Amino acid sequence: MLNVAVVGCGRWGMNYVRLLHELPQARLVVSCDTDPLRLKMVQERFPLLSVTDSLDEVLSNRWIDAVIVATPASTHYEVAKRVLLAGKHVMVEKPMTTDSAQAEELTFLAEEKKLTLMVGLTFFYNSGLYKTREIMEDPKFGDLYYLHLTRTNFGSVRNDVGVTWDLAAHDLAICEFLLGRQPEWVQANGATVLNHKLEDVVFITLGYLGGVMANIHVSWVCPNKVREVVAVGSGRRVVFDDAHPTERVRIYEKGIASAKEEAESFGQFRLLVRDGDIISPRVEPTEPLRVEVEHFLTCVAEGKTPLTDGNVGLQNVRVLEAIDRSLQQNGIRVPVATLSKTETRLPVAA
Ligand SMILES: NC(=O)c1ccc[n+]([C@@H]2O[C@H](COP(=O)([O-])OP(=O)(O)OC[C@H]3O[C@@H](n4cnc5c(N)ncnc54)[C@H](O)[C@@H]3O)[C@@H](O)[C@H]2O)c1
Repeated sequence: MLNVAVVGCGRWGMNYVRLLHELPQARLVVSCDTDPLRLKMVQERFPLLSVTDSLDEVLSNRWIDAVIVATPASTHYEVAKRVLLAGKHVMVEKPMTTDSAQAEELTFLAEEKKLTLMVGLTFFYNSGLYKTREIMEDPKFGDLYYLHLTRTNFGSVRNDVGVTWDLAAHDLAICEFLLGRQPEWVQANGATVLNHKLEDVVFITLGYLGGVMANIHVSWVCPNKVREVVAVGSGRRVVFDDAHPTERVRIYEKGIASAKEEAESFGQFRLLVRDGDIISPRVEPTEPLRVEVEHFLTCVAEGKTPLTDGNVGLQNVRVLEAIDRSLQQNGIRVPVATLSKTETRLPVAA
């Protein structure tokens, strides 16, 4: 059984505390947070758990094999680096870091030390997204025309990163999962309607080899909570609505009728528009975060490379950086740097 610690017990980190409390493959040794109020909340909910406000205490505990980092994005690099330097496996939340040089450094450090480094890109562990990809791979789906992704809600506004690094990090991971490749270029426009210097509304376009495009809209100031991915193919369309309680995936079997068939009344027009079945296939009701944590524990125990390893996290950060560059230059098209096997390795900083 692996001994694990959670660092950062805020809104999201509490989910890790709960899961590690439940999973038989691991023992949650200690939960760490710099905020005493959060530690009090952990203790109220899990009275038998040990808590600490000291990362040093976690890192010097030789019984701890692995650490899950769920602190704010701007602290991921520093905390994860200290965990790796202490010789412990690490799973760090998305975005992996706020700078690609830091993400590269962590990746090389983990390799050097032969430690597992995994990034919490949760959608790689989401059964609804697997179902969506399965539908897109079916020949009936046809050629992919484009993807459209929406991730909006009212809050929670972060102070250390803008909405792109907070929410679009998920959508970029979804695009990578569905398309199996990185965008060639990005274009983005955004606004800071809350006036706190960081974008809270962003519209992003990604361009892929072969002309496929993806469009992402993320916002912290939209009244509707939307978590939707639409894939439009020549034969079918598929909608993955992660917030839908019962129909997370819907297949639209047939699209808009050909121009030859002209409607003579509004009723007939509606019939022509919807002239195929809409099917909602069964999706495994698994909790993505549980699947993700189980995968991390398996990778650590068996020395396997995680599905979302440092390289996947690094590429995610590189696309986020390209989006930032486009935002800073009024939406110009910015090429995305991609990983190459021959890339020069950075020295590992101690
Ligand atoms: N994968 C997902 O679906 C998902 C969803 C939500 C959040 N997240 C990620 O999880 C992370 C945390 O998000 P959140 O919503 O819980 O934020 P939060 O602000 O609610 O919690 C962060 C916690 O970390 C603590 N903290 C800060 N610095 C620390 C340090 N150096 N050592 C120990 N504790 C420290 C804070 O006191 C706070 O309690 C973020 O990186 C976010 O991007 C991921």
